[in-house]
Amino acid sequence: MPEADNEGKNFYEGTPQKGKLFFLKGSNELDWGMKNRLSRIFNPKDGRTVMLAIDHGYFQGPTTGLERVDVSILPLVPEADTLMCTRGILRTVVPPSVTIPVVIRASGGPSILKELSNEEIAMDMEDCIRLGVCATAIQVFIGGEFESRSVVNMTRLVDAGLRYGIPTLAVTAVGKELVRNAQYFRLATRICAELGAQYVKTYYVEEGFETVTASCPVPIVIAGGKKRPELDALKMAYNAIRQGAAGVDMGRNIFQSDSPTGMMKAVNAIVHGNETPEKAFDLYQTIKNSGS
Ligand code: 5RP
Repeated sequence: MPEADNEGKNFYEGTPQKGKLFFLKGSNELDWGMKNRLSRIFNPKDGRTVMLAIDHGYFQGPTTGLERVDVSILPLVPEADTLMCTRGILRTVVPPSVTIPVVIRASGGPSILKELSNEEIAMDMEDCIRLGVCATAIQVFIGGEFESRSVVNMTRLVDAGLRYGIPTLAVTAVGKELVRNAQYFRLATRICAELGAQYVKTYYVEEGFETVTASCPVPIVIAGGKKRPELDALKMAYNAIRQGAAGVDMGRNIFQSDSPTGMMKAVNAIVHGNETPEKAFDLYQTIKNSGS
């Protein structure tokens, strides 16, 4: 039996159903599941994210700061918007009760002892679904020895992700022989976006970074790169956000800091609180001096 119609039921006939543009650049035409996952990675209030990157072990082994993820990294996880890691660390160390979104490293192959651009897709989409991840991440080596393979690998991951609603983060990896400048990163990020990545990770450059974010039609997050003094790292995050980045995906400058918790909170203050690098640095020092 259909539900009986009561007198006075209100169908708001005069109120058109409203639709909203999705808050992330270039993402409006994506399907619901993909948008929902992106909305967990990027805060819908400001369109930004603080990703904690701890996936380095997939080619570097137990690098400095990641010797014991259970001891040194797990306490930081509640401070991050998103955790980027490998499936091995996720399954062995990260408790399933962690509810922040996970971006999973889905490429691999060579270690630091070999040619790094010689990567393959190293994870099935089926396992990504099993793990409930919010995005996959894959390295793209523009100008590298195995450039084409890495680009095609990315497109394969994008195709698989589109099938199941899982976004792909393309990570622009720069070989030692290549110049890290805005011209290079415009090229690399744009190729990744043109070939379907839903968002792109790249490095910050002092000159012309705003042209990199402007010419990339999907959101850009920056990697932190090699460890630098804390104030410098905070200035870099601040400048990147001001010049159009949608967040950071930071690793070494957090977990190799003498106060990883202090750096997490300071980076958060910049990305989500629009704090100046100097004020964020004060916060870092206060937390560091308190012994955290
Ligand atoms: C490793 C990665 C890292 O996640 C990325 O480089 C971010 O880490 P860091 O801030 O240490 O550079 O993609 O290949």
